[in-house]
Amino acid sequence: MAKLIHEITDESLETGLRGIPVGYCVTSRVDPQEGLFYHDKPIKELTHYSPEAVLYFLHSCNLETGPGLQSFLEDLKKRATLSRESKDAIAALPRRLHPMEMFSAALLIVGGLEGKNNYREDCLDIIAKLPEIVACVINHHAGWSEATKSNPELGYIENFVQMLSIPGDIDKVAFCEFLRLFYILHMDHGGGNLSAFTGKVIASGLSDMYMSLSGAMCALAGPRHGYANQQALEFVKEAHARLGDYPNEKDTETFIRDKLMKKELIYGFGHAVLRVEDPRATIFYEFAREHVPNHPLVKVALRIREAGTKVLKEDPKVACPYPNIDAMSGTLLTALGFPYPDYYTVLFGLARSAGIVMQIVYERMIARGGKGTPIVRPKYFYKPKGTC
Ligand code: MLT
Repeated sequence: MAKLIHEITDESLETGLRGIPVGYCVTSRVDPQEGLFYHDKPIKELTHYSPEAVLYFLHSCNLETGPGLQSFLEDLKKRATLSRESKDAIAALPRRLHPMEMFSAALLIVGGLEGKNNYREDCLDIIAKLPEIVACVINHHAGWSEATKSNPELGYIENFVQMLSIPGDIDKVAFCEFLRLFYILHMDHGGGNLSAFTGKVIASGLSDMYMSLSGAMCALAGPRHGYANQQALEFVKEAHARLGDYPNEKDTETFIRDKLMKKELIYGFGHAVLRVEDPRATIFYEFAREHVPNHPLVKVALRIREAGTKVLKEDPKVACPYPNIDAMSGTLLTALGFPYPDYYTVLFGLARSAGIVMQIVYERMIARGGKGTPIVRPKYFYKPKGTC
Protein backbone atom coordinates (compact mmCIF):
# COMPACT_ATOMS: atom_id res chain seq x y z
CA MET A 1 0.00 0.00 0.00
CA ALA A 2 1.51 3.30 -1.09
CA LYS A 3 2.18 5.80 1.67
CA LEU A 4 1.53 9.51 1.37
CA ILE A 5 4.86 11.38 1.57
CA HIS A 6 3.85 14.81 0.37
CA GLU A 7 0.57 16.49 -0.21
CA ILE A 8 0.32 18.60 -3.34
CA THR A 9 -2.08 21.53 -3.25
CA ASP A 10 -2.61 24.40 -5.66
CA GLU A 11 -0.08 26.31 -3.56
CA SER A 12 2.58 23.82 -4.64
CA LEU A 13 2.21 24.95 -8.26
CA GLU A 14 4.67 27.39 -9.82
CA THR A 15 7.08 27.02 -6.88
CA GLY A 16 9.91 25.32 -8.76
CA LEU A 17 8.92 21.92 -7.27
CA ARG A 18 10.27 23.28 -3.97
CA GLY A 19 10.26 20.49 -1.42
CA ILE A 20 8.23 18.12 -3.60
CA PRO A 21 9.82 14.65 -3.60
CA VAL A 22 10.43 13.15 -7.04
CA GLY A 23 12.88 10.29 -6.50
CA TYR A 24 15.93 8.93 -4.75
CA CYS A 25 19.47 10.23 -4.70
CA VAL A 26 22.12 7.59 -4.02
CA THR A 27 25.12 9.89 -3.67
CA SER A 28 24.30 12.68 -1.25
CA ARG A 29 21.62 14.50 0.71
CA VAL A 30 21.12 17.98 2.14
CA ASP A 31 19.67 18.38 5.61
CA PRO A 32 18.20 21.86 6.28
CA GLN A 33 19.90 22.00 9.70
CA GLU A 34 23.02 19.91 9.21
CA GLY A 35 23.89 20.64 5.61
CA LEU A 36 25.49 18.36 3.06
CA PHE A 37 26.25 14.67 3.48
CA TYR A 38 27.96 12.45 0.90
CA HIS A 39 26.35 9.09 1.70
CA ASP A 40 26.42 9.00 5.53
CA LYS A 41 29.32 11.40 6.03
CA PRO A 42 28.94 15.08 6.84
CA ILE A 43 30.91 17.15 4.37
CA LYS A 44 33.27 18.49 7.04
CA GLU A 45 34.55 15.02 7.82
CA LEU A 46 35.39 14.46 4.14
CA THR A 47 37.61 17.51 3.92
CA HIS A 48 40.31 15.45 5.66
CA TYR A 49 40.52 13.15 2.62
CA SER A 50 42.00 13.64 -0.85
CA PRO A 51 39.66 14.67 -3.71
CA GLU A 52 40.34 11.28 -5.29
CA ALA A 53 39.28 9.43 -2.13
CA VAL A 54 36.09 11.51 -1.91
CA LEU A 55 35.38 10.92 -5.59
CA TYR A 56 35.75 7.18 -5.05
CA PHE A 57 33.59 7.39 -1.92
CA LEU A 58 30.83 9.20 -3.79
CA HIS A 59 31.02 6.64 -6.56
CA SER A 60 31.33 3.43 -4.55
CA CYS A 61 30.31 4.29 -0.99
CA ASN A 62 33.75 3.05 0.14
CA LEU A 63 35.84 5.46 2.13
CA GLU A 64 39.12 3.65 1.88
CA THR A 65 42.57 4.53 0.67
CA GLY A 66 43.65 0.95 -0.11
CA PRO A 67 43.39 -1.29 -3.17
CA GLY A 68 39.81 -0.33 -4.10
CA LEU A 69 40.78 3.33 -4.43
CA GLN A 70 44.02 2.48 -6.20
CA SER A 71 42.34 0.41 -8.90
CA PHE A 72 39.64 3.10 -9.34
CA LEU A 73 42.40 5.66 -9.90
CA GLU A 74 44.32 3.41 -12.26
CA ASP A 75 41.14 3.00 -14.30
CA LEU A 76 40.60 6.80 -14.41
CA LYS A 77 44.18 7.35 -15.55
CA LYS A 78 43.64 5.01 -18.51
CA ARG A 79 40.54 6.95 -19.50
CA ALA A 80 42.00 10.43 -19.06
CA THR A 81 43.44 11.19 -22.48
CA LEU A 82 41.56 13.65 -24.64
CA SER A 83 41.97 13.08 -28.36
CA ARG A 84 43.84 15.57 -30.55
CA GLU A 85 40.66 15.93 -32.61
CA SER A 86 38.66 16.97 -29.52
CA LYS A 87 41.34 19.43 -28.41
CA ASP A 88 41.51 21.02 -31.87
CA ALA A 89 37.72 21.30 -32.06
CA ILE A 90 37.59 23.03 -28.65
CA ALA A 91 40.41 25.35 -29.73
CA ALA A 92 38.36 26.26 -32.84
CA LEU A 93 35.38 27.52 -30.80
CA PRO A 94 34.82 31.28 -31.05
CA ARG A 95 36.61 32.96 -28.17
CA ARG A 96 33.81 35.42 -27.58
CA LEU A 97 31.55 32.65 -26.25
CA HIS A 98 30.92 32.82 -22.52
CA PRO A 99 33.21 30.28 -20.77
CA MET A 100 30.17 28.25 -19.67
CA GLU A 101 28.88 28.19 -23.27
CA MET A 102 32.29 27.00 -24.31
CA PHE A 103 32.36 24.36 -21.57
CA SER A 104 28.95 23.11 -22.52
CA ALA A 105 29.92 23.04 -26.23
CA ALA A 106 33.19 21.26 -25.35
CA LEU A 107 31.20 18.49 -23.65
CA LEU A 108 29.11 18.03 -26.81
CA ILE A 109 32.27 17.93 -28.92
CA VAL A 110 33.98 15.33 -26.75
CA GLY A 111 30.76 13.32 -26.53
CA GLY A 112 30.32 13.38 -30.31
CA LEU A 113 33.93 12.39 -30.98
CA GLU A 114 34.75 10.12 -28.04
CA GLY A 115 31.45 9.17 -26.36
CA LYS A 116 30.61 5.47 -25.97
CA ASN A 117 26.85 5.87 -25.65
CA ASN A 118 27.01 3.86 -22.44
CA TYR A 119 26.10 5.73 -19.25
CA ARG A 120 28.45 3.80 -16.95
CA GLU A 121 31.44 4.06 -19.28
CA ASP A 122 30.81 7.70 -20.14
CA CYS A 123 30.42 8.54 -16.44
CA LEU A 124 33.97 7.37 -15.72
CA ASP A 125 35.39 8.74 -18.98
CA ILE A 126 33.94 12.15 -18.25
CA ILE A 127 35.31 12.25 -14.70
CA ALA A 128 38.72 11.22 -16.05
CA LYS A 129 38.77 13.66 -18.98
CA LEU A 130 37.26 16.69 -17.26
CA PRO A 131 40.49 18.24 -15.93
CA GLU A 132 41.84 18.40 -19.49
CA ILE A 133 38.53 19.50 -21.03
CA VAL A 134 38.21 22.34 -18.52
CA ALA A 135 41.88 23.33 -18.84
CA CYS A 136 41.48 23.48 -22.65
CA VAL A 137 38.34 25.61 -22.30
CA ILE A 138 39.89 28.09 -19.86
CA ASN A 139 43.21 28.38 -21.70
CA HIS A 140 41.46 28.90 -25.02
CA HIS A 141 38.91 31.39 -23.70
CA ALA A 142 41.56 33.37 -21.82
CA GLY A 143 43.93 33.38 -24.79
CA TRP A 144 46.57 31.59 -22.72
CA SER A 145 48.87 29.05 -24.36
CA GLU A 146 47.64 25.52 -25.06
CA ALA A 147 47.48 23.17 -22.07
CA THR A 148 50.67 21.30 -21.32
CA LYS A 149 50.42 17.52 -21.65
CA SER A 150 48.04 15.90 -19.21
CA ASN A 151 49.82 13.90 -16.49
CA PRO A 152 47.21 12.18 -14.29
CA GLU A 153 50.02 10.71 -12.16
CA LEU A 154 50.31 14.13 -10.51
CA GLY A 155 46.87 13.88 -8.90
CA TYR A 156 43.46 15.01 -10.14
CA ILE A 157 43.69 18.66 -9.08
CA GLU A 158 47.45 18.97 -9.44
CA ASN A 159 47.22 17.76 -13.04
CA PHE A 160 44.42 20.21 -13.75
CA VAL A 161 46.41 23.13 -12.32
CA GLN A 162 49.58 22.23 -14.23
CA MET A 163 47.52 22.20 -17.47
CA LEU A 164 46.22 25.73 -16.84
CA SER A 165 48.60 28.15 -18.50
CA ILE A 166 48.02 30.86 -15.88
CA PRO A 167 50.25 33.85 -16.67
CA GLY A 168 52.59 35.39 -14.13
CA ASP A 169 53.51 34.11 -10.71
CA ILE A 170 50.99 32.13 -8.80
CA ASP A 171 51.71 30.04 -5.73
CA LYS A 172 50.56 26.77 -7.27
CA VAL A 173 50.97 24.84 -4.02
CA ALA A 174 48.59 27.15 -2.15
CA PHE A 175 46.21 27.28 -5.12
CA CYS A 176 46.12 23.47 -5.38
CA GLU A 177 45.50 23.15 -1.65
CA PHE A 178 42.47 25.42 -1.95
CA LEU A 179 41.24 23.84 -5.17
CA ARG A 180 41.32 20.37 -3.59
CA LEU A 181 38.99 21.68 -0.90
CA PHE A 182 36.88 23.61 -3.43
CA TYR A 183 36.49 20.43 -5.49
CA ILE A 184 35.40 18.27 -2.55
CA LEU A 185 32.85 20.84 -1.36
CA HIS A 186 31.27 21.36 -4.80
CA MET A 187 31.07 17.75 -6.05
CA ASP A 188 27.44 17.08 -5.27
CA HIS A 189 24.48 18.63 -3.46
CA GLY A 190 21.63 16.16 -3.27
CA GLY A 191 19.37 15.12 -6.10
CA GLY A 192 17.30 18.26 -6.58
CA ASN A 193 19.89 20.96 -7.28
CA LEU A 194 19.10 22.51 -10.63
CA SER A 195 22.07 21.24 -12.63
CA ALA A 196 21.79 17.64 -11.37
CA PHE A 197 18.05 17.66 -11.90
CA THR A 198 18.40 19.11 -15.40
CA GLY A 199 20.99 16.49 -16.32
CA LYS A 200 18.68 13.72 -15.13
CA VAL A 201 15.71 15.21 -16.95
CA ILE A 202 17.65 15.30 -20.23
CA ALA A 203 18.96 11.76 -19.71
CA SER A 204 15.41 10.53 -19.05
CA GLY A 205 14.75 10.97 -22.77
CA LEU A 206 17.80 8.70 -23.31
CA SER A 207 20.04 11.47 -24.59
CA ASP A 208 23.59 10.34 -23.89
CA MET A 209 25.71 11.29 -20.88
CA TYR A 210 27.63 14.08 -22.60
CA MET A 211 24.49 15.78 -23.92
CA SER A 212 22.86 15.46 -20.50
CA LEU A 213 25.87 16.93 -18.74
CA SER A 214 26.17 19.69 -21.32
CA GLY A 215 22.57 20.71 -20.56
CA ALA A 216 23.29 20.46 -16.84
CA MET A 217 26.17 22.90 -17.27
CA CYS A 218 23.85 25.35 -19.07
CA ALA A 219 21.65 25.16 -15.97
CA LEU A 220 24.65 25.73 -13.71
CA ALA A 221 25.57 28.85 -15.69
CA GLY A 222 22.57 30.82 -14.40
CA PRO A 223 22.94 33.58 -11.79
CA ARG A 224 20.63 31.79 -9.39
CA HIS A 225 22.83 28.72 -9.53
CA GLY A 226 26.58 28.40 -10.24
CA TYR A 227 27.14 31.90 -11.58
CA ALA A 228 26.32 33.21 -8.11
CA ASN A 229 29.93 32.62 -6.99
CA GLN A 230 31.08 35.25 -9.46
CA GLN A 231 28.37 37.68 -8.42
CA ALA A 232 29.12 37.22 -4.74
CA LEU A 233 32.71 38.23 -5.45
CA GLU A 234 31.48 41.36 -7.27
CA PHE A 235 29.37 42.12 -4.20
CA VAL A 236 32.41 41.83 -1.90
CA LYS A 237 34.46 44.02 -4.26
CA GLU A 238 31.74 46.66 -4.29
CA ALA A 239 31.63 46.61 -0.49
CA HIS A 240 35.41 46.92 -0.40
CA ALA A 241 35.34 49.91 -2.77
CA ARG A 242 32.84 51.61 -0.49
CA LEU A 243 34.09 50.54 2.94
CA GLY A 244 37.85 50.28 2.42
CA ASP A 245 40.36 47.84 3.89
CA TYR A 246 39.11 48.04 7.48
CA PRO A 247 35.31 47.94 7.34
CA ASN A 248 33.56 48.28 10.67
CA GLU A 249 30.39 46.52 11.73
CA LYS A 250 28.15 49.57 11.49
CA ASP A 251 29.23 50.66 8.00
CA THR A 252 28.95 47.11 6.69
CA GLU A 253 25.41 46.87 8.02
CA THR A 254 24.57 50.20 6.39
CA PHE A 255 25.97 48.93 3.08
CA ILE A 256 23.68 45.89 3.28
CA ARG A 257 20.64 47.92 4.33
CA ASP A 258 21.19 50.33 1.41
CA LYS A 259 21.22 47.38 -0.97
CA LEU A 260 17.99 46.03 0.48
CA MET A 261 16.34 49.44 0.29
CA LYS A 262 17.19 49.55 -3.40
CA LYS A 263 15.68 46.03 -3.71
CA GLU A 264 19.06 44.64 -4.76
CA LEU A 265 20.17 41.11 -3.94
CA ILE A 266 22.53 40.25 -1.11
CA TYR A 267 24.72 37.80 -2.98
CA GLY A 268 26.03 34.71 -1.22
CA PHE A 269 23.14 34.52 1.24
CA GLY A 270 20.14 32.20 1.44
CA HIS A 271 19.47 28.71 0.15
CA ALA A 272 16.53 26.71 -1.18
CA VAL A 273 17.06 23.91 1.35
CA LEU A 274 19.41 25.05 4.10
CA ARG A 275 18.13 26.89 7.16
CA VAL A 276 21.52 27.42 8.83
CA GLU A 277 24.85 28.76 7.63
CA ASP A 278 25.95 26.42 4.85
CA PRO A 279 28.62 24.17 6.45
CA ARG A 280 30.59 24.48 3.21
CA ALA A 281 30.64 28.27 3.70
CA THR A 282 31.78 27.74 7.30
CA ILE A 283 34.66 25.56 6.05
CA PHE A 284 35.66 28.28 3.56
CA TYR A 285 35.53 30.98 6.26
CA GLU A 286 37.81 28.84 8.45
CA PHE A 287 40.18 28.31 5.52
CA ALA A 288 40.25 32.06 4.88
CA ARG A 289 41.02 32.89 8.52
CA GLU A 290 43.82 30.37 8.53
CA HIS A 291 45.45 31.09 5.16
CA VAL A 292 44.66 34.61 3.96
CA PRO A 293 43.26 36.54 6.97
CA ASN A 294 44.86 39.82 5.89
CA HIS A 295 43.67 39.94 2.31
CA PRO A 296 41.44 43.05 2.03
CA LEU A 297 38.61 41.20 0.27
CA VAL A 298 38.70 38.43 2.88
CA LYS A 299 38.37 40.99 5.66
CA VAL A 300 35.37 42.54 3.93
CA ALA A 301 33.78 39.14 3.25
CA LEU A 302 34.15 38.18 6.92
CA ARG A 303 32.40 41.39 7.96
CA ILE A 304 29.63 40.74 5.43
CA ARG A 305 29.16 37.26 6.89
CA GLU A 306 28.10 38.78 10.22
CA ALA A 307 26.42 41.95 9.02
CA GLY A 308 24.46 40.17 6.28
CA THR A 309 23.08 37.57 8.66
CA LYS A 310 22.18 40.19 11.26
CA VAL A 311 20.36 42.46 8.82
CA LEU A 312 18.59 39.69 6.90
CA LYS A 313 17.37 38.13 10.16
CA GLU A 314 15.39 41.29 10.83
CA ASP A 315 13.02 40.36 8.01
CA PRO A 316 10.85 37.40 9.08
CA LYS A 317 10.06 36.66 5.45
CA VAL A 318 13.68 35.67 4.74
CA ALA A 319 13.70 31.88 5.14
CA CYS A 320 17.49 31.53 5.20
CA PRO A 321 19.40 34.64 6.30
CA TYR A 322 22.74 32.82 6.30
CA PRO A 323 25.73 32.63 3.94
CA ASN A 324 25.90 29.84 1.38
CA ILE A 325 28.89 28.29 -0.39
CA ASP A 326 29.10 31.12 -2.92
CA ALA A 327 29.64 33.78 -0.26
CA MET A 328 33.34 33.08 0.06
CA SER A 329 34.48 30.86 -2.81
CA GLY A 330 35.17 33.66 -5.34
CA THR A 331 36.87 35.82 -2.73
CA LEU A 332 39.16 32.92 -1.82
CA LEU A 333 39.99 32.11 -5.44
CA THR A 334 40.96 35.76 -5.93
CA ALA A 335 42.90 35.97 -2.67
CA LEU A 336 44.83 32.82 -3.55
CA GLY A 337 46.11 34.23 -6.83
CA PHE A 338 43.45 33.22 -9.37
CA PRO A 339 41.75 36.57 -10.06
CA TYR A 340 39.78 35.37 -13.10
CA PRO A 341 36.08 35.43 -12.05
CA ASP A 342 34.93 34.46 -15.55
CA TYR A 343 36.11 30.93 -14.80
CA TYR A 344 34.68 30.50 -11.30
CA THR A 345 31.46 28.87 -12.52
CA VAL A 346 33.51 26.61 -14.79
CA LEU A 347 35.49 25.45 -11.73
CA PHE A 348 32.18 24.83 -9.94
CA GLY A 349 31.12 22.78 -13.00
CA LEU A 350 34.34 20.75 -13.02
CA ALA A 351 33.47 19.56 -9.53
CA ARG A 352 29.66 19.32 -9.75
CA SER A 353 29.86 17.20 -12.91
CA ALA A 354 31.08 14.27 -10.79
CA GLY A 355 27.88 14.09 -8.75
CA ILE A 356 25.70 14.71 -11.80
CA VAL A 357 27.08 11.88 -13.92
CA MET A 358 26.90 9.46 -10.98
CA GLN A 359 23.28 10.41 -10.35
CA ILE A 360 22.48 9.91 -14.04
CA VAL A 361 23.99 6.40 -13.96
CA TYR A 362 21.69 5.56 -11.04
CA GLU A 363 18.55 6.88 -12.75
CA ARG A 364 19.32 5.26 -16.09
CA MET A 365 20.82 1.92 -15.06
CA ILE A 366 19.82 1.08 -11.50
CA ALA A 367 16.54 2.76 -10.51
CA ARG A 368 13.32 0.74 -10.60
CA GLY A 369 15.07 -2.60 -10.56
CA GLY A 370 17.37 -1.67 -13.44
CA LYS A 371 14.60 -0.44 -15.76
CA GLY A 372 15.54 3.16 -15.07
CA THR A 373 13.18 6.05 -14.43
CA PRO A 374 10.76 6.84 -17.26
CA ILE A 375 10.94 9.97 -19.38
CA VAL A 376 10.18 13.03 -17.23
CA ARG A 377 6.73 14.24 -18.09
CA PRO A 378 5.05 16.29 -15.32
CA LYS A 379 1.51 17.54 -15.53
CA TYR A 380 0.67 21.17 -16.22
CA PHE A 381 -2.83 22.65 -15.91
CA TYR A 382 -4.11 24.68 -18.78
CA LYS A 383 -4.69 28.31 -17.84
CA PRO A 384 -6.87 30.21 -20.29
CA LYS A 385 -5.46 33.50 -21.59
CA GLY A 386 -6.80 36.42 -19.65
CA THR A 387 -6.62 34.63 -16.32
CA CYS A 388 -2.80 34.86 -16.13
C1 MLT B 1 24.40 24.19 -3.95
O1 MLT B 1 25.48 23.61 -4.11
O2 MLT B 1 24.12 24.84 -2.94
C2 MLT B 1 23.43 24.09 -5.03
O3 MLT B 1 23.76 23.42 -6.13
C3 MLT B 1 22.14 24.72 -4.91
C4 MLT B 1 21.15 23.69 -4.45
O4 MLT B 1 21.47 22.77 -3.73
O5 MLT B 1 19.98 23.84 -4.84
